[in-house]
Amino acid sequence: MSVPSPGIVVVGSINADLVVTLERHPRPGETVLGRTLTVLPGGKGANQAVAAALLGADVTMVGAVGDDAYAETALSGLHAAGADLRAVRRADGSTGVAIVEVSDDGENTIVVLSGANTEVTPDVVAASADAIRDAAVVVVQGELSAPATAAAVRAAAGRVIVNLAPVMELDREALLRADPLVVNEHEGELVLAQFGGAKRPDHEAVVTALLASGFASVVMTLGGEGALMSDGGPVRHVPAPRVTAVDTTGAGDAFVGALAARLVAADALEDAVRFAVRVGSYAVQYPGAQPSYPTPADELPEVLTDDHEEASR
Ligand code: RIB
Repeated sequence: MSVPSPGIVVVGSINADLVVTLERHPRPGETVLGRTLTVLPGGKGANQAVAAALLGADVTMVGAVGDDAYAETALSGLHAAGADLRAVRRADGSTGVAIVEVSDDGENTIVVLSGANTEVTPDVVAASADAIRDAAVVVVQGELSAPATAAAVRAAAGRVIVNLAPVMELDREALLRADPLVVNEHEGELVLAQFGGAKRPDHEAVVTALLASGFASVVMTLGGEGALMSDGGPVRHVPAPRVTAVDTTGAGDAFVGALAARLVAADALEDAVRFAVRVGSYAVQYPGAQPSYPTPADELPEVLTDDHEEASR
């Protein structure tokens, strides 16, 4: 039997983000003038892998890019972070592209054209089965196909973080391997609905109902309000530092990458969530989905607004 390595394997999307800044988002049917256009590395999987690697983890990325001009940009952050890219395929055709609009208040809208990410089939995942099986932590999200994502979960022998963003219909047995399931408040309600759960009155009740559905642990991100978490005990609220958001793109990915980095370092889930909340708050203060986190990671709290208090509700 193989022994899990101390590393993280992220099986997920890799995109080039075409980021348009604008004063405010247009309403349907409306035209507004943008301010700037920048092409940056993105993709939820890549963003998570970059965050984990920059925070000190040993990260392998499983995914695909195309053979177009966007491929190098899409991979640039992963390269710079030192992620192992030997399991990233070069497919014919387009790299995944996301059209990201960021308004002056830091809020974004995103349209993703999956491109080469659709080339990550269960067979492609199977080609990396050894690395996935040997990883201490495997991270998946919702931007690859459900069969490919389920194949990654099934190949894992270590801890699996399922960030179901965006929400998709994932094989029930694979989904319940999540430990933790990481969702935002909207995604949490959608996942609960997949289990036949009725609408709940508040976020804490959604987390409780997800646990009752069979998840070993659940983390619900709440943006500037921090996160809720439970691994079977009472639902805990982890508040976020108060910061001014410049760009919220990828903040959830930074959170997941940081969570993986701490879980692979054997933190308890609550400690990992506390750290991840701070990293997510750090990320929104900088443009782009792959900001340059300070290294070593223990310098991070000095960069953050330090009003992180103990709390529960
Ligand atoms: O979560 C943010 C990411 O979503 C962007 O980087 C974009 O590529 C989309 O995948």
